Amino acid sequence: MKLSHVQRLKGVMKVPGDKSISHRSVMFGAIAEGKTKVTGFLPGDDCLSTIDCFRKLGVNIHQEDDYVEIDGNGIEGLKEPQEVLDVGNSGTTIRLMLGALANTPFHSCIIGDKSIAKRPMKRVTVPLTEMGVAIDGRAEGNFTPLSIRGGNTKGIQYTSPVASGQVKSAILLAGLGAEGVTSVSEPHKSRDHTERMLQAFGVNVQVDGLTVSIEGKQKLKGTNIEVPGDISSAAFFLAAGAIVPESELTIQKVGMNPTRTGIIDVLQLMGADLSIENAQNEAIEPFADLHIKKSSLKGIEIGGELIPRLIDEIPIIALMATQAEGTTVIKDAAELKVKETNRIDTVVNELKKLGANIEATEDGMIIHGKTRLVASSVDSHGDHRIGMMLGIASCIATGEMTINNSDAVRVSYPGFFDQLNELSR
Ligand code: S3P
Repeated sequence: MKLSHVQRLKGVMKVPGDKSISHRSVMFGAIAEGKTKVTGFLPGDDCLSTIDCFRKLGVNIHQEDDYVEIDGNGIEGLKEPQEVLDVGNSGTTIRLMLGALANTPFHSCIIGDKSIAKRPMKRVTVPLTEMGVAIDGRAEGNFTPLSIRGGNTKGIQYTSPVASGQVKSAILLAGLGAEGVTSVSEPHKSRDHTERMLQAFGVNVQVDGLTVSIEGKQKLKGTNIEVPGDISSAAFFLAAGAIVPESELTIQKVGMNPTRTGIIDVLQLMGADLSIENAQNEAIEPFADLHIKKSSLKGIEIGGELIPRLIDEIPIIALMATQAEGTTVIKDAAELKVKETNRIDTVVNELKKLGANIEATEDGMIIHGKTRLVASSVDSHGDHRIGMMLGIASCIATGEMTINNSDAVRVSYPGFFDQLNELSR
C-alpha cells in the first residue's frame, strides 16, 4: 500500500461494529436457547473466525455483512468438532472459546496463526484446569496447538494477576456450566461487555467492585443485540482529526462503555478539540457521536487504571504524542508485549523509521514531541492496529509512504484505507 500525505480529513462517518461485542454476540448466541439476532456486527476476519469455529461446533449461524442470526444450541448442546478449530489471528476467539468449551465433554483441538502461536494461554488454561477441565498444549498448555476436553466443572474464586477482559470472560463462561459459584477478581477493571451481555441473555451476574460472580447452571435465552461502533476503530480517526491540518470529523454511534473510553480521557487531557454529542445511555452498551477538530496537543503521563481502558489504543496514542508539545510517558503497559505483536517494539521501531523521538521502556514508552514525520517504508508486521496507525501517520508525513502487510487491517476494519481515502477528498 502506497500513501501520500493529505490536505485535510473532513466528513461525517461511521466505524464498523465493536469487535469485542461482536465476538460475544456470536458465542453467547451459540450457547443460548432460541434465536439471537445481531445488527451492526463487525464482519472483520477475527469475528468471522469466531463464526467459523462455532459452526464447526454444530451451531447454525447465518451471516450477511453486518447482520447475523444464530440458532442457539444451549449450553450443553455444542457438538464435537470434526475438524480443528482455527481462530486465525484472534486472541478473543481462542480465550473465550476455551471458556465455552470448559463444559463440553468432548475433544477439541485449537490452532491459530503465527501470532496466536506466541500468545500466552496459561492465563486462561490455569484457572480452567483448576475448575476441572483437561487442557494441554505446547509448553505445558501455554501455547497452541491446544487440546481441550471439558468436564464436570466446579466453580472457583479466582484472583487474576492481569486486568483482562478475555481472562475474566473465559472464566465466567466456564462458570456458567459449573457446579456452584464462580467469581473473578482483577487488579483494575477490564472491559465489562461480558457482564452486560450475559444480563441481556437473562443471566444473573453480581458485580462488586473489582469482583464479578455468577451462579453456575444458569441458562441463556436468545435475544436481539445492536452492536455500536468500535471506539478502538474510531480512535484512529479521532487521532487523525486532531493531528491532520484543517481536519474536522464527526463519527456517529460510537460505543461509549466507560471501561473502553480511556482514549476520550487522553484526548481531553492532551487538550484536543473534542465534543460528545447525542449520548444514549439506555441501551445495554452506551453510545454517542464524537466530533473532533485539528487541535494543539500537549504531552501527558498515562498509566495505572487508565491502561486497561485504552490498551488497544496505545499505538495511535503514541503517534498523537509525536505531534504534541512536550513529553508523553506511557507506563504500566507491559501487556502490550503479548498483543498481536509486541506492541512496545513494533510501535517504537516503526515510528522511529518516520523520524519520531520515541524510546521503549520495560512497561511502555516515552515520546518527545513535536516532531516532523518523514515518509518511509514501514511494516504492520501483520498487526491490524499497527497497520492503521501507520495509515494515519501517512496523512501527516512528508513524502510517499509504503506500508507493507497493510492487509492486516481486515482483522478489525476491512474498509479502513478506502474510508481514509474518501475523507481526504
Ligand atoms: C478483549 C480484551 C483485551 C483487548 C482485546 C479484546 C476482549 O485483551 O486487548 O483486543 O474482547 O475481551 P486482554 O483481555 O488480553 O486485555
